[in-house]
Order: sequence, then C-alpha cells, then structure tokens
Amino acid sequence: MNVLLVGSGGREHALAWRIAQSPRLGELHAAPGNPGIATLGTCHPLRADDAESLRDLCREVAVDLVIVGPEAPLVAGLADHLRHAGVAVFGPSADAARIEGSKSFAKEIMLAAGVPTARELSEPRAPCVVKADGLAAGKGVFVCRSEEEVAAALPRARALGGRVVVEELLEGSEVSLFAVCADEDALTLAPAQDFKRLGDGDEGPNTGGMGSYSPLPLVDEEEAEALVEAVHRPVLRELARRGTPFQGLLYAGLMLTETGPRVLEFNCRFGDPETQAILPRLEGDLLGALAAAASGSLAGVDLGAGPDAAVTVVLAAAGYPDAPETGARIGGIEAAEAEGALVFHAGTALRDGALVSAGGRVLSVTAVAPSVGGAREQVYRAVDQIEFPGAQYRRDVALGAVHATA
Ligand code: AMP
Ligand code: GLY
Repeated sequence: MNVLLVGSGGREHALAWRIAQSPRLGELHAAPGNPGIATLGTCHPLRADDAESLRDLCREVAVDLVIVGPEAPLVAGLADHLRHAGVAVFGPSADAARIEGSKSFAKEIMLAAGVPTARELSEPRAPCVVKADGLAAGKGVFVCRSEEEVAAALPRARALGGRVVVEELLEGSEVSLFAVCADEDALTLAPAQDFKRLGDGDEGPNTGGMGSYSPLPLVDEEEAEALVEAVHRPVLRELARRGTPFQGLLYAGLMLTETGPRVLEFNCRFGDPETQAILPRLEGDLLGALAAAASGSLAGVDLGAGPDAAVTVVLAAAGYPDAPETGARIGGIEAAEAEGALVFHAGTALRDGALVSAGGRVLSVTAVAPSVGGAREQVYRAVDQIEFPGAQYRRDVALGAVHATA
C-alpha cells in the first residue's frame, strides 16, 4: 500500500515512524514532511492546504491511502476533495471535522448526544472560560479567574473573529483520549496527558504542548474504554444520525472533575505531542487499522498498548510560543538516539547540509521503559545531549505520575 502522509510536525514524524514498520507499506510519501520524515520516505514540497496539488500527487505516485495529520486542511475539506477524486483518506469530512472547527457545533452535538461537558454561561462572569468559536491553534481559549481577566479576554477572543463561547471553569486533571473511528465504530487508544504550559509547574503561556506521557495512573485501560463508550461513541452516533459520519481520529480533551469526566474539546486528528508517547506503546498494525477505518469498517482490527511507559519532551525554539527564532544549528541528535530515545523532528530544516530550527516546536524526544520513572530518566538523559541556542523545554514532564505511582 502506498501512503501519503500530510503534515510536517512531530506527530507526523511519529506516524511515519510507526507506519514504516508495517508489513503492508509499499512507498511512503509525505507532503510537505520534514527532515526526520525524509529518512523514512519521500517528501514533496507541497502545502497541506493545497488540495489540488495533493490530488495530483496521489495520481502521480499511485497513493492508496492518505493520512491527514493537521486539523486545518480537514476543516477546509481536504478529505472530501481527495475522496471525490477516488482516493481513500484517513481523516474526517469537513462536515464531521466541525466537531473541532466550531466549538458551538461541538457543544450542540454533545448536548444532543448526552455527553457531559462544561455548561455554557449566558453571562461572561468570573470564574469562567472564554473561547473563540473557530480554529485558533490553541490561542483562542482564555481561562479567567477574575473579572479583570474576563475583561481582557473578551476583546482578544472577539478579535479572532466569529462567535465567542463562555463556559464554566472546570477543575481537575486533564486527559487526552484518542479513538480510531469509522462511522459508529471506535477503537480506543491508550490515554495520555499533555503539558500545555510553557514552563515547569504549569507556569507561563499556553503552547501547542510541551510534553506528554502514557499510561496514566488516573485512567487504566478499562476506564479508558468506559470513557470512549460514554463520550466518543455517542458523538459518533449523533454525527452519523445527522448524515455526517465521522471517519478518522476522534480526540477528546477531558477534564476529570470531582463530579465525573467532562469534555473540554474535541479534535478531529491525532494530538501533538501525545501521539509521540502513544504510538511507541502501541501493539498491532497501525497502518492496517487506519486503512480499515478509511474503508469504513474496523471489523477484526485490534490495537492494544504494551505494558511499557513512554515519556515525551518537546524542545522548543527561543521565543516560542510568541515569536520563535529560527535558523539555530541543532546538534546531538545521534547522541540522544544512542541513549535509546526516539527523536522526532517538528520544526527543523536542512540548510547547506546542516540541521537548523525552522519552527516553534523543534524536536520531540520520547523514551520507552518499564516504568514512567525509568522513561523519564532516560528521556532527560537523551534531551541533555541535544543542543541548539535558546532551546526551551520542561523539566517536570510526567513528574507527578512518578510521584503518584511511587
Ligand atoms: P480547548 O482548546 O477548548 O481544549 O482549551 C484549551 C485548554 O484550555 C484546555 O486544554 C484546558 O486546559 C483549558 N480549558 C478549556 N476549557 C476549560 C474549562 N471549561 N475549564 C477549565 N479549563 C478549560
Ligand atoms: N496537544 C494538544 C493538541 O494536539 O491539540
């Protein structure tokens, strides 16, 4: 099977790494890919939102399956476009991707499906959360604990365009739970936790995600299965009932509150950097599962998680998330790999044969070991080998889990 992977981040490198292990893989192509993915397949310099060129590429290199990494092209209808051209795609239609593309649509679906979520408030009054309705790459959500914060958040949310949603502020632990979905069928993947703030101790601004780990002391396999039954499957049924079935990866961002789990958001694609911690633990043929989902049935497909733990640490550029500096020379990747870690590229580029930074999140490093503590030690030994000027990373990824299981 020839595969085209759309995207260029650490998530896509991890997907490429895992797909490259599949006995079903013929050729691996990526658009645009990155220097890490280029060691596993052929990268084509096409943008993820250039649907016409991607369709032409599918014809040129006889692609059997397209796997779409990021949300923006899905929300814009890339999967519909390619399917119309007769190409199988892992990723939802534009109609189904609204579950991520519009927060008010997601709320409407959850209400209809009876899925627990944060209550919408009629008045923006602290404590509350102010959200821009549309896609905002993680920058459209403002957690407000005071009236001053509400007053500052409202114009910023409005400035992003579209509606503004205000909801109750929930307290608890956050969990990312992914399911591979085909219409009403869902296959549960191992839960992971994401570290969204830039600094240790959850200080500093929100980011795309600075680290992740799996499994979680809070949610075992059985509980994850029960959550997918309570959250993902009702949403899938509701979308199917409306004539817009979901096919692809449904990601629920959950808050485990004292009164039970609540959905914070849905995403219509794999999370980054959770994917980099989930896929190394995965047992079974990921490519086979994604191809089965794309063909509309998960019958006979099994994806388990191994007993080992994985911890992922993101190395970000100086100035991230506001104004990341690019062009910094990166060294030490081989030494990090020699520590037994997986180094996934995200914002990197080759310039005159040298690897340099080319984006906000530059690399993500994953270690797998029998315990979370062991994986943590190993991942930081590897991270310490990597050098580029101004590199920022958190020192406390998965630290709480080590304490919880000690
Ligand atoms: P979202 O894009 O909706 O997931 O929001 C991004 C982040 O904002 C989440 O991962 C949470 O950390 C936080 N957040 C969103 N909604 C809420 C809420 N209702 N209560 C508390 N925190 C929230
Ligand atoms: N790690 C959060 C996301 O992928 O949206």
